[in-house]
Order: sequence, then structure tokens, then C-alpha cells
Amino acid sequence: MSETRETPQTIQNRKGREPIAALTAYDYPMAKLIDAVGVPLLLVGDSLGMVVLGYPDTTQVTLNEMEHHVRAVARSKPRGLIIADLPFKSYETPRQALSSAQRLIDAGAEGVKAEGGLVILPQVESIIAAGIPFLGHIGMLPQSVVEEGGYKVKGCNPMQEEALLADALALAQAGAFGLVLELVNAPVAAEITDRVGIPTIGIGSGIGCDGQILVTTDLLGTSPDFIPKHVQPEQLLRDRMIGMLRVWKKSLTNPK
Ligand code: KIV
Repeated sequence: MSETRETPQTIQNRKGREPIAALTAYDYPMAKLIDAVGVPLLLVGDSLGMVVLGYPDTTQVTLNEMEHHVRAVARSKPRGLIIADLPFKSYETPRQALSSAQRLIDAGAEGVKAEGGLVILPQVESIIAAGIPFLGHIGMLPQSVVEEGGYKVKGCNPMQEEALLADALALAQAGAFGLVLELVNAPVAAEITDRVGIPTIGIGSGIGCDGQILVTTDLLGTSPDFIPKHVQPEQLLRDRMIGMLRVWKKSLTNPK
């Protein structure tokens, strides 16, 4: 297994050459497992809120919580690049975005991700101008779920398609090293992939992206409440875990 550390450049170099695998990690043991299979990008995602912290959505995740989990992942010293999500309301202005991003970098992240395109461009520019690698995220934006009333596929009409393309091009032009496309209508995701010079990493956006990212607990079938339609875990590991716990409990005997 290669010991080479991934960088934004090594991720970019894969565009058009090999598919980019990316997974979420929230703690030390999961980061070690992901690193064992050589996944080049580990995202400390704010999906943390639902799959680890028991929140109903990502909007309650705080910067302190993100820092705590970034530190845990960083302690695993993976070869993969560690990217951390800027949580809800932590990037309202360019100044706040930079200070929040710097806190995640100080905690051990090697880059940050935030949700939105043209609307957050000044924030993105201030992060990139400070030399912090930035991963874009457009399409369905989980931090807007309350506002939008649900998780809806994007790019289903010409207006949405045009807006997504404009966002993608603006983020690439600003210097984002890659772009997550979440729940983007597959043909539109494929078109964005063709049109931008940076890698696209899809989630529920079809096979036409340069790479794929999943919430690891969805992939393993251990997400506590809900597994989205675009993930078909090979088995529900949570059932196996419950089985093992049951076997242990049953094995207990009364003290003599
Ligand atoms: O928080 C997260 O896990 C994410 C992925 C869904 C891309 O942003």
C-alpha cells in the first residue's frame, strides 16, 4: 500500500483517469478503516449531526462539535485528505467563514467544504485567498432542508439546471479544488462534470461524476434512523451488531 499522502492536487489529477472514492468519517476507528482501503478523501461531514449526535438534521451541528470530530479523525493520520464541513451559520460573512475555516484547519482538517455556489462566493474567495483548500457543494443542500421543507432532487428544470451550472463554474473559477454534487439530476451532473475543469464527486447524482461520496454509516447499514434510496448496503451491519450484542447478553450466567 502506498504511503503517499493525498493533496488537493492528487485528487484533481484523478479527473478523467480514475474514479475518486470519498467517504465520511467522524471518529478515529472509522477513519482507520477507511484509510485501510486507501480512500483518498475523508470528509468529516456535518451529517455527523444525524448519524452520530442524534439531531434531526445538520442545522444543529456546531463548530465546536465539528472541531471535536475533526481532531478525532486527524489522530488517525490517514493518507487520505481530511476535509471538514463548515457547519450551518458558521460562514455568513467572508470574515466569519475564514475564521471558522481556520478553526477546522487548526483542529487537523486539510481543507473545508461549504454549501452553496454564487450566494457564498465572497466567503469561498476569502477562504481560498488564505490558502485553505476548498471543496464546493451544490445541488441539494442539507443545511437548507428546514427552509426547503425536505431533501429534493435538483436540476429538474432548465432554470435549476442553469443555476447549478453557473454555481459550478463560479466555484471552479474561484479556485475550489473539487465539487460535491448532491442529489443532482443525473444528466445535469454529467454535463457539469464535462464542463468544469475540477473533479465532481457525486452523491445520489448518477454515475456521470468523476467520483462518488457516501455517508459511511449508510454504506455499512449502521445509520440509526434512515438510509437514503441512493445507497444499497450489501448488508445491514446494524442487524449483525444487534445479533452480536444479543448473543453476549444471553451468554451471561448467574453468579454462583
Ligand atoms: O455531511 C455530509 O456527509 C456531506 C455528504 C453528504 C457529502 O456533506
